[in-house]
Amino acid sequence: MNNFIFQNPTKLIFGKGMIKEIASQIPAGKKIMITFGGGSVKKNGVYEQVIEALAGREYTEFWGIESNPSIETLRKAIAQGREFGADFLLAVGGGSVIDGTKLVSAGLKYDGDAWDLVKKGSYTDTVPLGTVLTLPATGSEMNSGAVISRHETKEKYAFYSNYPVFSVLDPTVTFTLPDHQIACGIADTFVHVMEQYMTKPEQSALMDRWAESILRTLIEIAPKIKENHEDYDLMADFMMCATMGLNGFIAMGVEQDWCTHMIGHELTALHGLTHGETLSIVFPGTLRALRQEKALKIMQYGERIWGLSSGLPETRVEKAIEKTEEFFRSLGLRTRLSEAGIGEDTIMEIEKRFNERGVAYGENHDVTGAVARRILEAAK
Ligand code: NZQ
Ligand code: ZN
Repeated sequence: MNNFIFQNPTKLIFGKGMIKEIASQIPAGKKIMITFGGGSVKKNGVYEQVIEALAGREYTEFWGIESNPSIETLRKAIAQGREFGADFLLAVGGGSVIDGTKLVSAGLKYDGDAWDLVKKGSYTDTVPLGTVLTLPATGSEMNSGAVISRHETKEKYAFYSNYPVFSVLDPTVTFTLPDHQIACGIADTFVHVMEQYMTKPEQSALMDRWAESILRTLIEIAPKIKENHEDYDLMADFMMCATMGLNGFIAMGVEQDWCTHMIGHELTALHGLTHGETLSIVFPGTLRALRQEKALKIMQYGERIWGLSSGLPETRVEKAIEKTEEFFRSLGLRTRLSEAGIGEDTIMEIEKRFNERGVAYGENHDVTGAVARRILEAAK
């Protein structure tokens, strides 16, 4: 196990009816800017609960943070927050609203254009932020990351600031999620765990078991959720899988990969694909292209997650990859670039972008433009 320093300061407030707790979590006298997406919160009672909890408080509302939040929209939020004098932010929505609000929390403290901060990669002088999560997927409710897009140039980059001070997770608010968003949320959570697990074996027995427990739970609950996504306990487990999958708990002292995400962000930037579906397309390609480097860990995964304990190593690796792709398909997601109408032009563009940026992702820092091409070719 590598050395590490771990601290996750986000207070989790979990359960039915817990949105009212925001009243006691936001200090008195704060000027609050509440941020929302496109309006789903008005159809499931979340908006009413938030407004009721904030009765008598001074607040302004910013609407319209879209999926894959864009700098173009967030500049407007920063301008509104500045004019209002916001000194506390409350993000109410999915990962996009929370991510976008993380950039707003930094942008409010920065004199220049907030895109500078995205290019810089991190900025930790921020206005405090609380969240009410409505979509389990990104882990943004309990981490310091955000992913911000720029429509003008078709770019999408990760940005790091501070953790939310609190996040409310009420599983009942997920009952209104469309099936496709649930499928994408499960795939996103699965691949978050894989980015931290599918590297090298024997770094930490405990991290492996924690990661495997999230994978096993997702595989167990996914078909049941497909039958009934208004089951409180199933959605509660899904929410906790998503939060625990990307809040640092399974990453202590182990190498991480993240090449699938970085390639996936390019697919969203260039083609507007939903984040979770970029992963269900790219990840099987990552396993296929890097099957030699990752062979030992793929075999461990195949045995512990899919019960593949006999046969030649090469066959076991192949079966584990097939099982993974089948799992994504069972969610109703596409797993091939061709199904999304994506071809050679895009592969060339992603290779070029990675080369120009001089990046090398993956646990071995070797996923360059050329390797990204191999991954995408294996995902055709
Ligand atoms: O905008 P509204 O009307 O609220 O509708 C949203 C949106 O259309 C809807 N929705 C959310 N909760 C709902 C609901 N509809 C009905 N009932 C509910 N309870 O779902 C749609 C998708 O929402 P969005 O927030 O875009 O999805 P998600 O949470 O998957 O977030 C995706 C973004 O997060 C980034 C992705 O790249 C993408 O930009 N990620 C952030 C990460 C992080 N901060 O750590 C890590 C992830 O890997 C990911 O990259
Ligand atoms: Zn993700």
